Amino acid sequence: MEAFKTKIEELAESRKITPEFLDYILHQATEEEREILCAKARKTAQSIFGKTVYLRGLIEFTNYCKNDCYYCGIRLSNKNACRYRLSLEEILSCCDKGEELGFKTFVLQGGEDPYYTDDKICELVRAIKEKHPSCAVTLSIGEKSYESYQKYFEAGAERYLLRHETANEEHYAMLHPKNLSGAHRKQCLRDLKKIGFQVGCGIMLGTPGQTTAHIYEDIQFMQELQPHMIGIGPFIAHKDTPFHDRPSGSAEETIALLAVLRLLFPKVLLPATTALGTADAFGREKGILAGANVIMPNLSPSNVRDKYLLYDGKICTGEEAAECNACLRGRMKKIGYEVADVRGDHPDFI
Ligand code: 5AD
Ligand code: FES
Repeated sequence: MEAFKTKIEELAESRKITPEFLDYILHQATEEEREILCAKARKTAQSIFGKTVYLRGLIEFTNYCKNDCYYCGIRLSNKNACRYRLSLEEILSCCDKGEELGFKTFVLQGGEDPYYTDDKICELVRAIKEKHPSCAVTLSIGEKSYESYQKYFEAGAERYLLRHETANEEHYAMLHPKNLSGAHRKQCLRDLKKIGFQVGCGIMLGTPGQTTAHIYEDIQFMQELQPHMIGIGPFIAHKDTPFHDRPSGSAEETIALLAVLRLLFPKVLLPATTALGTADAFGREKGILAGANVIMPNLSPSNVRDKYLLYDGKICTGEEAAECNACLRGRMKKIGYEVADVRGDHPDFI
């Protein structure tokens, strides 16, 4: 036990981890040891953010997608997906509702939907910024050209989420069709950072074929990229995808990885994701207690929520924005945390 404690202190001090220790943490550590890890990660998060959690209002504005990722429920080939797009007015009304509830960040997430040209995205961003000048706009709409990203930035978007999914090329090819490459995805993240976005990368835990060596490569990629946000959630199978019968990722391992990432990247914005809350009824609370500091409640209109299904069993598809808001504030209070109604930029951006 003392030896484990010492190793955690060293990890926190050096901000480095060996592949062997990563594997030990993910697959062999006892419950007691994991609690030591989480306590250290929690203290680290608290030393920077206090006992506060930032909220991001997630607006899932289109579930059309031209890609065919093997894990994803809104992939092009899923003919059972009931497709929808929100209008500009509907999106703006989500933001109005969000600001009333205290949200200061809106995340516009969608599939890679060619209907939303760069001009339409820029118009959307400008309209939101005009109505809600004190709020941050985050885009999460996939791989685009440098020029497109530049236009979004100039229109006023200040953050961009694009999980790299896996840093290993062979593993990337196991999860995606041939027309997609891990190299291009990583290049997008570098472009976004160069343009000046606060960028978020990330992975799913427990995707088919994933090994600890892959996760170690993911960490190395993150150490190179130095993202402002890291989104981590368990892989959860969707019934209408090629991975329909694959086992889901473990909530416990996801939580342990969140803690490791907090120690490696003390200032990073780290969400306790909806997928984690789906895999474990208290996954989001456990994530916060393992060093996460962001929660992303759903702001999408209730009539489309059950259509943006990337995986089976997603929570909150029957709730209204106000319900999730009250639920999450209550859940955070119960574990001794407070939601801060601020933009919650990365510390280096303040
Ligand atoms: N299980 C968990 N997460 C998923 N995502 C996509 N499909 C799934 C799934 N089946 C994640 C991907 C994507 C993000 C928006 O959602 O990591 O980048
Ligand atoms: Fe949606 Fe709890 S967060 S109901």
